Amino acid sequence: MAAKSEGKVDDTAYKTAVTRAFDRAAAQYDRMGVEFFGPMGRRLVERAAPRPGERVLDVGCGRGAALFPAAARTGPTGSVLGIDIAPAMIEEARREALKQGAGHVELRVMDGERPELPPRSFDLVLGSYSVIFLPDAPAALARYAELLADGGRIAFTSPVFTDDTFPFLPPVFTELIPRSLLANLPAEWQPEALRRRFNSWLGQVMDLRRTMEKAGFTGVEVVDEPVELVATSGEAWVDWSHTQGMRLLWTHLPAQESARLRERLITALDAMRDGDGPLVIDTPVRYVTASVRR
Ligand SMILES: C[S@@+](CC[C@H](N)C(=O)[O-])C[C@H]1O[C@@H](n2cnc3c(N)ncnc32)[C@H](O)[C@@H]1O
Repeated sequence: MAAKSEGKVDDTAYKTAVTRAFDRAAAQYDRMGVEFFGPMGRRLVERAAPRPGERVLDVGCGRGAALFPAAARTGPTGSVLGIDIAPAMIEEARREALKQGAGHVELRVMDGERPELPPRSFDLVLGSYSVIFLPDAPAALARYAELLADGGRIAFTSPVFTDDTFPFLPPVFTELIPRSLLANLPAEWQPEALRRRFNSWLGQVMDLRRTMEKAGFTGVEVVDEPVELVATSGEAWVDWSHTQGMRLLWTHLPAQESARLRERLITALDAMRDGDGPLVIDTPVRYVTASVRR
């Protein structure tokens, strides 16, 4: 990843790295003996409550954790467009749409930060754990407001950020990663840089509300609620962590450090299990909903 000075990353280089990471992860994404994105996507759709006949846009749809539950609700009289920057994710979602015979689902490779779509052509914009990946999310939110028809809504999820080491990772990872490993990370992956990139507008509810209102939304609701992340084992959790956003971090660790951290995490996570039972981690998720102001 090409870094500019001061730990800042060039947006194009950043998007290329994100695309590559999710392209490589796509085949296994959310299929690794861990339940997290599925329950979160279903809950997001429950909150957003798309109605039969509505037109939904799912930004950063991945393999469709929110997209397919939304498509079930709109029914064939409605439509759901899923866009993602990673072509392999779109391929996987397309395969699933075919399997489900969901003819009202369309999938396109597109940069969710600047969607090239007609104004006022959607009733609902969704984004599950994807808006955080946009280099200038506040500007993207204003574009989403323009894409919404009168009365349109937006609903997205994000991590609940803490002041800990890695702002976008579940607390368990934050607690277990040795501080010494931080020295190995490039400047743009240092905690401060991550905090600036991922949560400068999302971390505090007040900032988030202000950003949403400035982007053209009203009735902003922010609800933090845990998703029960269930993994068959500590090893399953660690393998899973390579198939989503955390992959970006793993790729920056030297092989030996990576292997050591893997063992350390597996041991610690297995110790949290009840005997041979599954590993259950309550992972806080932020649900943001609002309506377009017009
Ligand atoms: C953590 S995954 C979430 C996927 C899906 N929404 C889910 O809940 O399973 C983040 C997704 O955002 C996509 N993404 C990241 N940056 C993007 C961008 N600029 N435009 C569109 N999609 C993007 C990634 O390719 C990835 O599929």
